[in-house]
This record gives sequence, C-alpha cells and structure tokens, in this order.
Amino acid sequence: MEQKYSQFRGQPRLPKFAVPKRYDIKLKPDLVACKFSGAVDISVDVVAPTKFIVLNAADLAVHPNSVRFTDQTGSKVLEALVVELCEEDEIVVVEFAENLPIGVGFLCIAFEGTLNDKMKGFYRSSYEHKGEKKNMAVTQFEPADARRCFPCWDEPACKATFKIVLEVPSEVVALSNMPVVEEKVDGNIKTVHYQESPIMSTYLVAVVIGLFDYVEDFTSDGIKVRVYCQVGKANQGKFALDVAVKTLDLYKMYFAVPYSLPKLDMIAIPDFAAGAMENYGLVTYRETALLYDEKHSAASNKQRVATVVAHELAHQWFGNLVTMEWWTHLWLNEGFATWVSYLATDSLFPEWKIWTQFLDESTEGLRLDGLAESHPIEVEINHACEIDEIFDAISYRKGASVIRMLQSYLGPECFQRALASYIKKYACSNAKTEDLWAVLEEESGEPVNKLMNSWTKQKGYPVVAVRVKDQKLEFDQSQFLLSGSHGDGQWIVPITLCCCSYDARKNFLLQAKSESLDTKEFLGCSISQGCLKETGAWIKINVDQTGFYRVKYDDELAGRLRHAIEAKCLSATDRFGILDDSYALCMACQQPLASLLSLMGAYREELEYTVLCNLISISYKIARIAADATPELLGYIEQFFINLFQYPAEKLGWDPKQGESHLDAMLRGELLAALVHFGHDITQDEARRRFDAFLDDRHTALLPPDIRKVAYVAVMQNVSSSSRSGYESLLRVYRETDQSQEKTRILGSLASCPDPDIVLEVLTFVLSSEVRSQDAIFGVHVGIKGRETAWGWLKDNWDHISKTWGSGFLITRFVSSVVSPFSSYEKAKEVEEFFASRAKPSIARTLKQSLERVHINAKWVQSIQNEEHLADIVQELAS
Ligand code: BES
Ligand code: ZN
Repeated sequence: MEQKYSQFRGQPRLPKFAVPKRYDIKLKPDLVACKFSGAVDISVDVVAPTKFIVLNAADLAVHPNSVRFTDQTGSKVLEALVVELCEEDEIVVVEFAENLPIGVGFLCIAFEGTLNDKMKGFYRSSYEHKGEKKNMAVTQFEPADARRCFPCWDEPACKATFKIVLEVPSEVVALSNMPVVEEKVDGNIKTVHYQESPIMSTYLVAVVIGLFDYVEDFTSDGIKVRVYCQVGKANQGKFALDVAVKTLDLYKMYFAVPYSLPKLDMIAIPDFAAGAMENYGLVTYRETALLYDEKHSAASNKQRVATVVAHELAHQWFGNLVTMEWWTHLWLNEGFATWVSYLATDSLFPEWKIWTQFLDESTEGLRLDGLAESHPIEVEINHACEIDEIFDAISYRKGASVIRMLQSYLGPECFQRALASYIKKYACSNAKTEDLWAVLEEESGEPVNKLMNSWTKQKGYPVVAVRVKDQKLEFDQSQFLLSGSHGDGQWIVPITLCCCSYDARKNFLLQAKSESLDTKEFLGCSISQGCLKETGAWIKINVDQTGFYRVKYDDELAGRLRHAIEAKCLSATDRFGILDDSYALCMACQQPLASLLSLMGAYREELEYTVLCNLISISYKIARIAADATPELLGYIEQFFINLFQYPAEKLGWDPKQGESHLDAMLRGELLAALVHFGHDITQDEARRRFDAFLDDRHTALLPPDIRKVAYVAVMQNVSSSSRSGYESLLRVYRETDQSQEKTRILGSLASCPDPDIVLEVLTFVLSSEVRSQDAIFGVHVGIKGRETAWGWLKDNWDHISKTWGSGFLITRFVSSVVSPFSSYEKAKEVEEFFASRAKPSIARTLKQSLERVHINAKWVQSIQNEEHLADIVQELAS
C-alpha cells in the first residue's frame, strides 16, 4: 500500500506553505502522575495555496477534533479533515477540505503527553524536599525536542514569538523565558501568564516548575538576574550570579548590543543531560556547572561554573539573537560561544591564564579531527536524529580554534568590529557561515571566505613539515591523520614563525602544497646571518599555537627547540604546542617513542599549569600503550614519569599555601594524582593517611576539595575483594553528601581499582538507582586493567544501557569510554561483530571513531615493539 502523505515524509525540512508567527501555548503538567496536557493556538501566515499544514510533533497524543483553522477575522472556521501523526518523521499532517485562505490565520491544536524520564522534551527530574521525594517538570528542547512538548515548526529558522501560560500547583515556582505578567490563584492551582517573547526559535523555549530558592542581582542596565537552586542551597548560587551580572555587562560592550530580554534566570536542575542549556532568558544547568560552595567545591569546579555561565550567556547573542539558519551551521553557535566564553573569563579572571588553557580545546579538536571518521565543521543534516552527534569536539573545539586562528590573523579590533556589525545585521534573524565571512571580509578587506572555506568545508587539518635547506626554510603541507596515512586535503594555512626571539616574527599564508622562505628575510635573526650552526638559534612555527595545524620539524630544528625549552626561552603556549605535536606525530608512528620521551625530559622544571596537565595526560596515554607494547619496560617508564612530576609536586606540597594562585590549587591535584597513578608509594601512603583523617572529620584541613580525588583514587588502588573497607567508606561518603561535585569526584575514582571483581561491582553500582542517569558515565572511567571487565559489562548490559540512554547523546559516551582503550585488531573485530546486529544511527559515528582509535592504538603498539634502542633510552631516563 502506498504510504499516506508520502510527499511530506522522509524530508529533512518542513514544507513552508504556511509559516508560524506567534504561538499561544498553554501547558498543564501533573507532577504526580507525570503527565501533561496542553493547547497551542498558532498564528500562521499561509503564503501559498494549500489544503495542508505540516508541522512537527512527537510522542504527543493530538485530539483530532480539536484541530481547526480560523481565518484572521474569525468569520471562517475550518475543521481538520484528517490529522495524521507520522512518528518516524516526527510530523503531524493536517488536511482540510479546501484550500486555506492566503494570509494570516489561526491553527488550534489540543494535545497530551508524558513527563518523561529521558531528560529531553518536557521531562521530570526528581529531588528531595523536607525528606519527601518530589518531581519537577523541566524542558530541554535543543536540538529538536520542542516537538515533544507542543506541535510546532521545530526548525531554528522558523522564528516566532511565544506567549506562554502555565497551570500549576499554587505552591511551586514556575518559570519561563519571559517575566510573569499575571498570576491567578484558584485553590490549589495557579494560572501563570508570561509576557510575550521577542521572536525566537523553538529550541530556545523553556519552562521549569518545582520548588526553588534564589539569589538575585541587577546589571548596570537594571536587568534582573537570578540564580535558582534547590531549597536551602541559594548561597551556592552567588558565585554564578556575580559572574553572570559582570558577563552581561561585558558582552553588551563587546557585541555593542544590550541583552535583549527584561530578565535572566539561571537554574540548577538535578537531572540534566548536557552541561547547560542557553534557553532565552531561562538558562538551565547541571548542578555541578552552576553551584559553587566555598567549603566543598574545588578550584576546578569554580572555573567550570565561570566558563559554563560565560558560554551560555554568549549564546544570548550568538545563537539566541542571531541564530544559525540550519544545524549545518551549529558551529556558529557552539564554536563561537566557546571562543567568546574565554574572552569573558579572561577579562573576569586574568590570573587563570585562560587563553593558555584554551589549548585544551584545540588539542581535543585536533585529536578528533585527526581521524578519518571525522566530519567537516559544516556538515549536512538530513534528519533530526543526526543532529545530536554533531555537538562534538569538531563543532565546539575545532570551531572555537578556527575562530581564534582567524581573529589572530585579522587582529582583535577588526574582528570585534566585524562581530558587532554581524550581530546588528542579523539580530532577530538567522545566518549562515558565509554571512559571517562576508561581514568579516568587508570589515577587513581580506579574502576571509576563501581562507575559511578550507577550514570549515573539509574535514581534517594539515601537518606542516619544516626543514632548513641551503639558507632556505621549506614548508610542506599534507593532511595529518593519526592512522599515519596522509589524506589529500589542502588548506590555506596562516603560518606564523619567530626566530630566536618573540620580537623577530614573520607571517605568511601557505596556499600551495609547498613553499620556501629565504632565510635572509629574517632581519635581525641569527639564521639570516647563516648561523643556524650557532648554538641557541631556534625557530618556532605556529607562534603561541593560534593556528589549527601541527608542525613537524626536521631533526636539527627539533633539537634546537628542545634546548630552547630547557633554556626557558619559550612561552607556555609554545612549550605546550611542541610537546603536543610531538605526541601526535608519535601516535601516528611518524616519530619514535624514544624521541617523545626524551623531549618530555626537557620539561623537568616545568611549573605552568596547562603545560604540566598536558604532560601528565600524555604520560597516562604512553603508560597505557606501553603496558600493551612493552610491558617489560613499563616500570622504567613509570619511574621516569615519577621523576618528572616529583619536582613540581614537591614545590607545591600537599597543603594549600596562603594566597596561592588558582592555577597552583588546580595543579596540586593533578600532580599528586599522577604520582599516585604511577605508583609513587610515599604519595599513595600520604593520600590514604589524609583520607582517614577525612573520614573522622569531613571538614579536616588535611583534605581540601582540590586534592580529594587524589585520596579517593589512592584508596581504590588499595581495595580488593578481600580488603573492601576503603570502597565501602567511599560509598558512605557518596551516600551522605548532597553535593553533586563531591558525588562526581567519587564516581570518577571508583573504577580505578585494580581488582576486576571490584570494578564489576562498581559498574553494577553505576547502573543502580543510586546514581542518576546523567552521572552514570563518570563511573565508567576504567583504566587499562579494567577495560576487559568494562567490555564484558557493556555487552551484558547493552539492552538496558541502550534502553536507558539510547534516545540521547549520552549513549555515545558509553561506547567511546569502553571501546577506545583497546589496542588490538582482534579486539576491534570483536567489537565490530558485537555491534553489527545492534547498530543504531545514534551511535554509528561514535562507534566508527572508537574503532578507528583502536586501530591507531594497535598500529602504535606494533611500531613501538619494532623500535630499536627504546630500552636503553627508557632505562637511562628512569635513572
Ligand atoms: N547548547 C548547548 C547545550 C546542548 C548540548 C544542547 C547538546 C543539546 C545537545 C550548550 O550551550 C552547551 O554547549 N553546553 C555545554 C557546556 C559548555 C560550557 C561547553 C555542555 O552541555 O557540555
Ligand atoms: Zn553552547
């Protein structure tokens, strides 16, 4: 049988013969039965002759008899002839007996739905109030779940105004995007009317209904800003409130447009899939991303709160005021908000050196984009189910990085002027990537479109090989792939270099595959005098790592840079970059492990937070691969790492120093954790001693939040089936605390136990009702010793995991966490076979990427095994 309404099915976008102008929405949630009923009255503009209206709806029961169309004057009412819900396409087709009158009319629909437990659409979240378990009702509509709450044109370009009315129990707090204009109480029920919103996209509509306390403040323009928290926790909202008020003022200056709504609410939700969501005027957060507790939060928690708030508020301009035209341009939202959040955080907390920390974003972008299974920044989207997957390191981190690259090429003033004019030009409207380039091109006079297309329309990035030959510097670009092969991409690469000093710089665009520079061009630099033979002369490409590419130096240049690091001639960003490029080249089997390790040795006196963190994370990965490749050398390698981290760790000590910097507070935890991880027994013993003190007194100064995780990991390292007390103590702390950051720290430590039986117990606990489904993934943080256990557990529990997390993006994290640590072709095959019959579009990309990582690891293992002289070098470094 031919499918009904086939002309409307299987389409990526809705037909536009009628478009919405204004939504009147009434919602009535039942927090006990977890259901809701509602009605929409949508002003639509019929722009072409049609008998049909097609809009989005999913998981809703629509009352067919309620559906009618009224013309503008109200004189003509058309009842729907057929109302057909197509679940697969998430649309509802309404057919009328005759063509609709051209022009504005009103479409009414009544419907019902469930307050689901999937953290999307209109959902329920649970909390305790005065010892009683309660539900709140919350919305999460991005990317395409407004359709699960009310029928609508659920596409970012279909902007309209929204007038919302909620019918709720009289004692609750009921919030929406706009301020309340009227509230009528009738017994136990109140009806709350909100002011009509400015025009906006459906994915930004929000309501939250539950019991909350708040703190409040005002911007210099008098905009009321509130932070809502669980009852009794309002104080923990003060830090975020302060950041928000200052950030709104800052963005108003930077974008040269004020915040466009009369109020801003920010609210902590106990069950929340993402980190935060930028709903216009009502930003929702995970508790860990909004609440800061002087006593129980770590410095890293504080930084997380500040950056997340800065990110979501950036969206109030970049995303909410100016919206991407379609999900292909998602990066315009996320890449920009990520980049802008650094701008704000840097201005508020200059001592955090946040632009140095930005390199973590670039590195993660480079890491994902080094896979053949990556995707371009601008990616085609044909079905709603494909959108979730692109909220990834490409849209966010590569996106933010290419913006930084462009800003540094054009200059900050020009860049800001262009952004301000872009915001003004597209305010209350939608924009595509090329619209932004056009504005930047006009402002700068540079060929921005051509330059940037090479970065946003093709996946991957180049490695630029540099060598000195006959008084010339030769540059050659080719696509970098972690698999070691070369892709055929080519880019316009903004090359920056400096020579012997940050004052002797040179910039140019590498447009061809290869180009060479005459060294005579470097006035004032020693190589121009032919002195590359001179000791101490060095050349650093990609100065301050503002470019999104890798650099491969010839042996001579690399050796000189190593000396420059030891001689402390280089900036932290450049020290980071040299290390990170070397690590990537090593993983791609283009450089021996021995040379990476000896380069790491040049960082013995490193004290900079971001550089050390990268050194630590690289050392973890090397130890993991070495455990498979050369188990007989693992002990030496670990000893080398201990030697490397002992110097900075001793400098910092265990106890916070009076007035020490934010970065030192964060660094202490990372360094001690590394020493514990590599088996430094003095550190392990001290960590456990402090944990015991903590068990006696949760406020002990011996275990401040910044180093708690160190102690938790050390405790779990000592746990086994026959000696479980440390594990049980940690579970007790987990159960007793009502602080989410503390729960997260504990969850992230439990699986570091070497005993597989305990690891399995931990993984079982993670799936229990004691762990909120938003947090389960933190417990799946298994080391190399736990990976087989985790894989067995994933297979055994796949049906449950797939059912619980399968409808959101969290499921992908289970797959990547469990699969990526493997390093053999056989394992890759086994994983592939398991998923062959369990394929799901929502994990397809992640699964391919994870399998590619396993292949990369396997190849790396082989290459290390074939490396000559590795043992000699490792033993020497360890001594
Ligand atoms: N718009 C996103 C939230 C989102 C993510 C919605 C995925 C739908 C799917 C929000 O602005 C965001 O980017 N949140 C980040 C935090 C941010 C600081 C990087 C997140 O949720 O991790
Ligand atoms: Zn965002």
